[in-house]
Amino acid sequence: MSSILIAGASRGIGREFVRQLLEKGWRVLATARDQAGCAALAELGAEPFILDITDDRSIAALAAKLGSTPLDAVLANAGISGDQSMPMEAVTWAEMVRVMDTNTLGAVLLVAALKPNLLAGERRLALGMSSLMSSISSNNWGTQYCYRASKTALNAMWRSLADEWRVDAITCALLRPGFVKTDMTDHNDRGLDVDVSVAGMVRVIEQLALADTGRCIGFDGKDVPW
Ligand SMILES: NC(=O)c1ccc[n+]([C@@H]2O[C@H](COP(=O)([O-])OP(=O)(O)OC[C@H]3O[C@@H](n4cnc5c(N)ncnc54)[C@H](OP(=O)(O)O)[C@@H]3O)[C@@H](O)[C@H]2O)c1
Repeated sequence: MSSILIAGASRGIGREFVRQLLEKGWRVLATARDQAGCAALAELGAEPFILDITDDRSIAALAAKLGSTPLDAVLANAGISGDQSMPMEAVTWAEMVRVMDTNTLGAVLLVAALKPNLLAGERRLALGMSSLMSSISSNNWGTQYCYRASKTALNAMWRSLADEWRVDAITCALLRPGFVKTDMTDHNDRGLDVDVSVAGMVRVIEQLALADTGRCIGFDGKDVPW
């Protein structure tokens, strides 16, 4: 049975990953920020853990609770959009730090803290949740300063991680869910249904191998341009 830890699973894409992977027979460990979120995850059939990905003590506490539990995959899914419509003059230092802490630094520090668990697992997949907004070459309409920067930086750090961890046979891949109807997008009518997006990413995860390390792959199996 494959095992995965999904960070940020209380709702949206993370929660749907929990549902679909349980259905496929995976052992799913999943995190929420509070007890109510953990209780809901337990009801789905996941093993719940508390995690605030922006808090290094919370990451350390999770790692301590997991101990030597082997994990085939860690998915750093937790993310926030920040206020995406702000013109640059309105973006504050605090807002930039808040978005980068969650989307970039928390994700990288989480997989680093759980590296021993990945090494004890068989598939060794360190998965980050990227976005088309990370792509500099596709940015032809601007806006979303903090969110874009956070995901571009995530890609950059994941690529370095891929290089560093190749020797450990850990596959460091980034996923792109597409534009999905969740709280983050106010369930925008033009978005993909969350089950369709996640089913696509599950197919990608099932096929990942070390040869894919450093790639950013969409729910449709296509590489995301840098
Ligand atoms: N939806 C899209 O179209 C889209 C497109 C591209 C990429 N993505 C990425 O996909 C991921 C999931 O997005 P979503 O659409 O499912 O968003 P969502 O519905 O807003 O859910 C975000 C999840 O992240 C958790 N989270 C936020 N801050 C956290 C923190 N400090 N510590 C731990 N957990 C935290 C939330 O927990 P709480 O319930 O406690 O807030 C929630 O479970 C994000 O990384 C996002 O950037 C989404």
